[in-house]
Amino acid sequence: MVTKLPSSGAMPAGQEAGCDTSGLILVHRIFRWLYRELPLLIRDVKPGDTARAAIVGRYAHLDFFALHMHHETEDMALWDRLTARDPGCALHVDQMRAQHAEVAALLARIEPQLDPWVASADPELGEAFARDIETLRDTLSTHLGHEEELIMPVAGAVLSQQEWDWMEEHTRATLSKHRKELGKDIMALQAGLLIAAVPEDEREAWMRANIPAPIRLLYALLMKRQYERAMRELYPDRPIPAMV
Ligand SMILES: [Fe+2]
Repeated sequence: MVTKLPSSGAMPAGQEAGCDTSGLILVHRIFRWLYRELPLLIRDVKPGDTARAAIVGRYAHLDFFALHMHHETEDMALWDRLTARDPGCALHVDQMRAQHAEVAALLARIEPQLDPWVASADPELGEAFARDIETLRDTLSTHLGHEEELIMPVAGAVLSQQEWDWMEEHTRATLSKHRKELGKDIMALQAGLLIAAVPEDEREAWMRANIPAPIRLLYALLMKRQYERAMRELYPDRPIPAMV
């Protein structure tokens, strides 16, 4: 269940400052990968191949949805709280807010291009679309690096583990709420990408430490297959590009 955020910057009773923020590195790794690969997938669509454009278009929509959701979740959970507890980080927080606004403006320019490109698979529309996504990729890459360098250490020091974990809970709840729009394999995609973001030799141990046993079982029985089906659909004739 998603817990409600307290309205002030005060630490909730019974919680203490200090949290493990390392999960954000995995999430950032996924976004870097998604936005690195998306322009290539768009350019690979043959002129007029609207069936293939529809497939790539579905994943493009998911990538845009995920980025909006990720930044909105951070906006809710991080900025006010960080500046209330550590006023010294206000300048960096302002920088993060500005970068989120920049990313949102680029998404607003990109998203309306999706439907016309999917409907036509027109190479010129595709090229303009891919180029704008590359601009977003570069802006995003700078932002993610700044967040890791300037924000994660402060968040790790001043937020409680419950406050930090709320972002993951909120993400899962939001995806689940939008399952109809996003597709019934959306939870499997989220889980599969997260696992793919962990280096292979650490994956077993990471799953045992971070995924509850019932979900691990559900993943093994059902979600892994859904994730692999989606990846085969996206990369039918070449290996899935490595994330790490
Ligand atoms: Fe961010």
